[in-house]
Amino acid sequence: PTPLVIDTDPGIDDAVAILLAVASPEVDLRLVTTTHGNVDLAQTTENALRVLHLAGRADVPVAAGARAPLVHPMAERAGHVHGAAGLGGVELPRSPAAVDPRPAVVALADLLLASPRPVTVAAIGPLTNIALLLAVHPEAAARIGRLVVMGGSAGAGGNVTAAAEFNAWADPEAAQAVFSSTVPTVMVGLDVTLPTVLGESGVARFAAAGPLGATTAAILRQYMDVSRRRYGVDGVVVHDALALTEAIVPGTLTTAPRDVVVDTGLGVTRGQTLVDRRDPSGSPTAVHVAERVDSAAAVEFLVSRLAALAAR
Ligand code: BDR
Ligand code: CA
Repeated sequence: PTPLVIDTDPGIDDAVAILLAVASPEVDLRLVTTTHGNVDLAQTTENALRVLHLAGRADVPVAAGARAPLVHPMAERAGHVHGAAGLGGVELPRSPAAVDPRPAVVALADLLLASPRPVTVAAIGPLTNIALLLAVHPEAAARIGRLVVMGGSAGAGGNVTAAAEFNAWADPEAAQAVFSSTVPTVMVGLDVTLPTVLGESGVARFAAAGPLGATTAAILRQYMDVSRRRYGVDGVVVHDALALTEAIVPGTLTTAPRDVVVDTGLGVTRGQTLVDRRDPSGSPTAVHVAERVDSAAAVEFLVSRLAALAAR
Protein backbone atom coordinates (compact mmCIF):
# COMPACT_ATOMS: atom_id res chain seq x y z
CA PRO A 1 0.00 0.00 0.00
CA THR A 2 1.00 3.61 -0.61
CA PRO A 3 1.95 5.53 2.55
CA LEU A 4 -0.62 8.29 3.13
CA VAL A 5 -0.83 11.43 5.26
CA ILE A 6 -4.05 13.40 5.66
CA ASP A 7 -3.82 17.10 6.52
CA THR A 8 -7.28 18.05 7.69
CA ASP A 9 -9.72 20.31 9.60
CA PRO A 10 -12.56 17.94 10.62
CA GLY A 11 -15.22 18.92 9.59
CA ILE A 12 -17.97 16.57 8.46
CA ASP A 13 -16.65 15.70 4.99
CA ASP A 14 -13.13 15.49 6.46
CA ALA A 15 -14.40 12.84 8.89
CA VAL A 16 -15.91 10.87 6.01
CA ALA A 17 -12.62 11.22 4.09
CA ILE A 18 -10.62 9.83 7.02
CA LEU A 19 -12.99 6.87 7.29
CA LEU A 20 -12.65 6.22 3.56
CA ALA A 21 -8.86 6.12 3.88
CA VAL A 22 -9.05 3.69 6.80
CA ALA A 23 -11.42 1.52 4.74
CA SER A 24 -9.07 1.36 1.74
CA PRO A 25 -6.36 -1.31 1.41
CA GLU A 26 -4.56 0.60 -1.36
CA VAL A 27 -3.20 3.07 1.21
CA ASP A 28 -1.49 2.88 4.57
CA LEU A 29 -2.59 5.84 6.72
CA ARG A 30 0.59 6.79 8.57
CA LEU A 31 -0.15 10.24 9.99
CA VAL A 32 -2.92 12.79 10.38
CA THR A 33 -1.98 16.46 10.72
CA THR A 34 -4.53 19.05 11.72
CA THR A 35 -5.10 22.66 10.81
CA HIS A 36 -7.42 25.51 11.72
CA GLY A 37 -10.29 25.71 9.23
CA ASN A 38 -13.89 24.63 9.60
CA VAL A 39 -13.54 25.10 13.37
CA ASP A 40 -10.57 26.10 15.52
CA LEU A 41 -7.40 24.02 15.82
CA ALA A 42 -8.12 22.57 19.28
CA GLN A 43 -11.46 21.29 18.00
CA THR A 44 -10.18 19.93 14.65
CA THR A 45 -7.42 18.09 16.51
CA GLU A 46 -9.84 16.59 19.03
CA ASN A 47 -12.16 15.61 16.19
CA ALA A 48 -9.34 13.91 14.26
CA LEU A 49 -8.47 11.83 17.34
CA ARG A 50 -12.09 10.84 17.89
CA VAL A 51 -12.76 9.94 14.24
CA LEU A 52 -9.69 7.68 14.17
CA HIS A 53 -10.81 6.07 17.40
CA LEU A 54 -14.27 5.49 15.89
CA ALA A 55 -12.55 3.80 12.95
CA GLY A 56 -10.52 1.55 15.26
CA ARG A 57 -7.28 3.35 14.31
CA ALA A 58 -6.34 5.25 17.45
CA ASP A 59 -2.80 4.07 16.69
CA VAL A 60 -2.42 6.58 13.83
CA PRO A 61 -0.49 9.59 15.17
CA VAL A 62 -2.27 12.97 15.13
CA ALA A 63 -0.01 16.04 15.08
CA ALA A 64 -1.47 19.53 15.46
CA GLY A 65 -0.46 22.25 13.03
CA ALA A 66 -1.30 25.85 12.30
CA ARG A 67 -3.66 27.77 14.54
CA ALA A 68 -4.15 30.59 12.04
CA PRO A 69 -3.55 31.46 8.38
CA LEU A 70 -0.09 32.70 7.31
CA VAL A 71 -0.93 36.38 6.97
CA HIS A 72 -4.50 37.59 7.50
CA PRO A 73 -6.81 36.31 10.25
CA MET A 74 -9.96 34.63 9.00
CA ALA A 75 -13.16 36.65 9.08
CA GLU A 76 -15.33 33.64 9.92
CA ARG A 77 -15.12 29.89 10.31
CA ALA A 78 -17.61 27.32 9.03
CA GLY A 79 -19.42 26.32 12.21
CA HIS A 80 -22.69 27.18 10.49
CA VAL A 81 -21.94 24.38 7.99
CA HIS A 82 -20.30 21.74 10.17
CA GLY A 83 -21.86 22.47 13.58
CA ALA A 84 -20.16 24.43 16.37
CA ALA A 85 -17.96 21.43 17.27
CA GLY A 86 -17.41 20.44 13.66
CA LEU A 87 -19.11 17.06 13.46
CA GLY A 88 -22.71 17.97 12.83
CA GLY A 89 -23.70 18.00 16.49
CA VAL A 90 -22.63 14.37 17.04
CA GLU A 91 -20.50 13.81 20.16
CA LEU A 92 -18.12 10.93 19.41
CA PRO A 93 -16.48 8.97 22.27
CA ARG A 94 -13.09 10.26 23.43
CA SER A 95 -10.00 8.57 22.09
CA PRO A 96 -7.55 6.95 24.53
CA ALA A 97 -4.74 8.36 22.37
CA ALA A 98 -2.96 11.66 23.06
CA VAL A 99 -1.89 14.23 20.50
CA ASP A 100 1.60 13.67 19.07
CA PRO A 101 3.97 16.11 20.80
CA ARG A 102 5.55 17.21 17.50
CA PRO A 103 4.25 20.18 15.53
CA ALA A 104 2.55 19.04 12.30
CA VAL A 105 5.36 20.25 10.01
CA VAL A 106 7.95 18.35 12.05
CA ALA A 107 5.89 15.15 12.04
CA LEU A 108 5.38 15.54 8.29
CA ALA A 109 9.06 16.15 7.61
CA ASP A 110 10.11 13.21 9.80
CA LEU A 111 7.79 10.87 7.92
CA LEU A 112 8.69 12.14 4.44
CA LEU A 113 12.44 11.92 5.09
CA ALA A 114 12.23 8.46 6.65
CA SER A 115 9.90 6.84 4.12
CA PRO A 116 11.63 4.60 1.59
CA ARG A 117 8.58 4.95 -0.66
CA PRO A 118 6.99 8.11 -2.06
CA VAL A 119 4.27 9.37 0.27
CA THR A 120 0.89 10.65 -0.87
CA VAL A 121 -0.35 13.69 1.07
CA ALA A 122 -4.06 14.49 0.94
CA ALA A 123 -4.63 18.11 2.03
CA ILE A 124 -8.32 18.66 2.71
CA GLY A 125 -8.28 21.84 4.78
CA PRO A 126 -6.70 25.30 4.43
CA LEU A 127 -3.15 24.84 3.08
CA THR A 128 -1.29 26.57 5.93
CA ASN A 129 0.60 23.45 7.11
CA ILE A 130 1.71 22.49 3.62
CA ALA A 131 2.93 26.03 2.90
CA LEU A 132 4.86 25.98 6.18
CA LEU A 133 6.41 22.63 5.25
CA LEU A 134 7.53 24.12 1.92
CA ALA A 135 9.10 27.06 3.74
CA VAL A 136 10.64 25.26 6.70
CA HIS A 137 11.51 21.80 5.33
CA PRO A 138 11.77 22.14 1.54
CA GLU A 139 13.96 19.02 1.35
CA ALA A 140 11.14 17.03 2.96
CA ALA A 141 8.43 18.63 0.79
CA ALA A 142 10.45 17.63 -2.28
CA ARG A 143 9.91 14.00 -1.28
CA ILE A 144 6.10 14.18 -1.51
CA GLY A 145 5.09 11.67 -4.18
CA ARG A 146 1.68 13.23 -4.82
CA LEU A 147 -0.13 16.08 -3.13
CA VAL A 148 -3.88 15.82 -3.60
CA VAL A 149 -5.58 19.06 -2.57
CA MET A 150 -9.29 19.58 -2.01
CA GLY A 151 -9.57 23.23 -2.79
CA GLY A 152 -10.22 25.89 -5.37
CA SER A 153 -12.51 26.08 -8.33
CA ALA A 154 -11.64 26.34 -12.01
CA GLY A 155 -14.98 27.44 -13.38
CA ALA A 156 -17.60 26.56 -10.82
CA GLY A 157 -17.53 29.82 -8.87
CA GLY A 158 -17.11 29.81 -5.12
CA ASN A 159 -18.89 28.40 -2.10
CA VAL A 160 -17.79 30.65 0.77
CA THR A 161 -17.96 33.76 -1.44
CA ALA A 162 -19.14 34.18 -5.02
CA ALA A 163 -15.52 33.84 -6.15
CA ALA A 164 -13.76 31.59 -3.67
CA GLU A 165 -13.80 28.03 -2.43
CA PHE A 166 -13.49 27.72 1.36
CA ASN A 167 -10.02 26.11 1.70
CA ALA A 168 -8.40 28.50 -0.77
CA TRP A 169 -10.18 31.46 0.81
CA ALA A 170 -9.22 30.43 4.35
CA ASP A 171 -5.51 30.91 3.56
CA PRO A 172 -4.96 32.29 0.05
CA GLU A 173 -1.27 33.09 0.67
CA ALA A 174 -0.68 29.45 1.62
CA ALA A 175 -2.67 28.18 -1.37
CA GLN A 176 -0.61 30.41 -3.66
CA ALA A 177 2.64 29.02 -2.19
CA VAL A 178 1.45 25.44 -2.70
CA PHE A 179 0.06 25.87 -6.22
CA SER A 180 3.22 27.69 -7.37
CA SER A 181 5.54 25.01 -5.96
CA THR A 182 7.05 22.15 -7.94
CA VAL A 183 5.45 19.50 -5.72
CA PRO A 184 3.36 17.20 -7.98
CA THR A 185 -0.10 18.47 -7.12
CA VAL A 186 -3.65 17.52 -8.06
CA MET A 187 -6.31 20.19 -7.46
CA VAL A 188 -9.69 18.68 -6.66
CA GLY A 189 -11.95 21.70 -6.79
CA LEU A 190 -15.65 22.49 -6.79
CA ASP A 191 -15.84 21.66 -10.52
CA VAL A 192 -15.74 17.95 -9.65
CA THR A 193 -16.98 17.91 -6.05
CA LEU A 194 -20.26 19.79 -6.56
CA PRO A 195 -21.68 17.32 -9.13
CA THR A 196 -20.75 14.39 -6.90
CA VAL A 197 -23.73 14.07 -4.60
CA LEU A 198 -24.17 11.33 -2.03
CA GLY A 199 -27.91 10.72 -1.82
CA GLU A 200 -30.16 9.31 0.90
CA SER A 201 -30.12 5.80 -0.55
CA GLY A 202 -26.31 5.62 -0.35
CA VAL A 203 -26.29 6.93 3.21
CA ALA A 204 -28.96 4.36 4.13
CA ARG A 205 -26.75 1.55 2.81
CA PHE A 206 -23.81 2.20 5.10
CA ALA A 207 -26.08 3.28 7.96
CA ALA A 208 -27.54 -0.23 7.94
CA ALA A 209 -24.16 -1.99 7.76
CA GLY A 210 -23.14 -1.48 11.39
CA PRO A 211 -22.71 1.05 14.22
CA LEU A 212 -19.89 2.95 12.50
CA GLY A 213 -22.13 3.38 9.46
CA ALA A 214 -25.01 4.62 11.58
CA THR A 215 -22.74 7.12 13.34
CA THR A 216 -21.41 8.38 9.99
CA ALA A 217 -24.96 8.84 8.76
CA ALA A 218 -25.81 10.84 11.89
CA ILE A 219 -22.79 13.11 11.33
CA LEU A 220 -23.97 13.70 7.75
CA ARG A 221 -27.57 14.54 8.63
CA GLN A 222 -27.17 18.26 9.36
CA TYR A 223 -24.84 18.59 6.36
CA MET A 224 -27.67 17.27 4.16
CA ASP A 225 -29.77 20.31 5.00
CA VAL A 226 -26.85 22.65 4.32
CA SER A 227 -26.14 21.01 0.94
CA ARG A 228 -29.78 21.33 0.03
CA ARG A 229 -29.89 25.01 0.88
CA ARG A 230 -26.44 25.98 -0.36
CA TYR A 231 -26.06 23.88 -3.48
CA GLY A 232 -29.68 22.96 -4.22
CA VAL A 233 -28.84 19.27 -4.33
CA ASP A 234 -30.72 16.32 -2.92
CA GLY A 235 -28.06 14.72 -0.75
CA VAL A 236 -24.61 15.73 0.48
CA VAL A 237 -21.54 17.03 -1.28
CA VAL A 238 -18.66 15.31 0.50
CA HIS A 239 -15.86 17.35 -1.11
CA ASP A 240 -12.99 15.90 0.91
CA ALA A 241 -13.99 12.28 0.33
CA LEU A 242 -13.68 12.80 -3.43
CA ALA A 243 -10.15 14.15 -2.97
CA LEU A 244 -9.35 11.05 -0.91
CA THR A 245 -10.73 8.84 -3.66
CA GLU A 246 -8.24 10.41 -6.08
CA ALA A 247 -5.47 9.95 -3.49
CA ILE A 248 -6.39 6.28 -3.04
CA VAL A 249 -7.00 5.46 -6.72
CA PRO A 250 -4.91 7.82 -8.87
CA GLY A 251 -6.68 8.63 -12.12
CA THR A 252 -10.19 8.50 -10.67
CA LEU A 253 -10.55 12.08 -11.90
CA THR A 254 -9.67 13.39 -15.35
CA THR A 255 -7.09 16.14 -14.92
CA ALA A 256 -5.28 18.62 -17.14
CA PRO A 257 -1.98 20.38 -16.38
CA ARG A 258 -2.65 24.06 -15.73
CA ASP A 259 -0.91 26.93 -14.04
CA VAL A 260 -3.00 28.13 -11.10
CA VAL A 261 -2.76 31.54 -9.46
CA VAL A 262 -4.58 32.44 -6.25
CA ASP A 263 -5.95 35.92 -5.67
CA THR A 264 -4.21 37.13 -2.51
CA GLY A 265 -5.60 40.64 -2.75
CA LEU A 266 -8.00 41.95 -0.14
CA GLY A 267 -10.86 42.62 -2.55
CA VAL A 268 -14.06 40.73 -3.18
CA THR A 269 -12.31 37.98 -5.16
CA ARG A 270 -9.78 37.13 -2.43
CA GLY A 271 -9.06 33.39 -2.48
CA GLN A 272 -10.24 32.88 -6.06
CA THR A 273 -8.19 30.33 -7.99
CA LEU A 274 -7.40 31.55 -11.50
CA VAL A 275 -6.78 28.55 -13.70
CA ASP A 276 -4.74 29.47 -16.75
CA ARG A 277 -6.20 27.88 -19.88
CA ARG A 278 -3.09 28.59 -21.95
CA ASP A 279 -0.69 25.77 -22.77
CA PRO A 280 1.47 25.16 -19.69
CA SER A 281 4.11 23.12 -21.58
CA GLY A 282 7.41 23.35 -19.84
CA SER A 283 5.97 24.95 -16.71
CA PRO A 284 7.50 23.14 -13.70
CA THR A 285 4.73 24.43 -11.47
CA ALA A 286 1.72 23.24 -13.47
CA VAL A 287 -0.99 21.73 -11.28
CA HIS A 288 -3.09 18.78 -12.41
CA VAL A 289 -6.52 20.35 -12.23
CA ALA A 290 -9.44 17.92 -11.99
CA GLU A 291 -11.89 18.73 -14.76
CA ARG A 292 -14.14 15.70 -15.04
CA VAL A 293 -15.50 13.03 -12.76
CA ASP A 294 -17.67 9.94 -13.05
CA SER A 295 -19.82 10.98 -10.09
CA ALA A 296 -21.92 7.81 -9.96
CA ALA A 297 -18.78 5.65 -9.78
CA ALA A 298 -17.22 7.90 -7.14
CA VAL A 299 -20.33 7.76 -4.95
CA GLU A 300 -20.54 3.98 -5.33
CA PHE A 301 -16.86 3.66 -4.33
CA LEU A 302 -17.46 5.72 -1.17
CA VAL A 303 -20.67 3.95 -0.17
CA SER A 304 -19.31 0.43 -0.69
CA ARG A 305 -16.08 1.18 1.18
CA LEU A 306 -17.93 2.72 4.14
CA ALA A 307 -20.41 -0.17 4.23
CA ALA A 308 -17.52 -2.66 4.25
CA LEU A 309 -15.75 -0.75 7.03
CA ALA A 310 -18.95 -0.67 9.09
CA ALA A 311 -19.43 -4.42 8.63
CA ARG A 312 -15.89 -5.31 9.79
C1 BDR B 1 -14.08 22.47 1.78
O1 BDR B 1 -14.43 23.40 2.80
C2 BDR B 1 -14.67 22.73 4.00
O2 BDR B 1 -15.78 23.27 4.65
C3 BDR B 1 -14.86 21.27 3.65
O3 BDR B 1 -14.41 20.44 4.71
C4 BDR B 1 -14.01 21.09 2.42
O4 BDR B 1 -12.67 20.78 2.76
C5 BDR B 1 -15.09 22.59 0.66
O5 BDR B 1 -15.04 23.87 0.12
CA1 CA C 1 -12.02 20.07 5.00
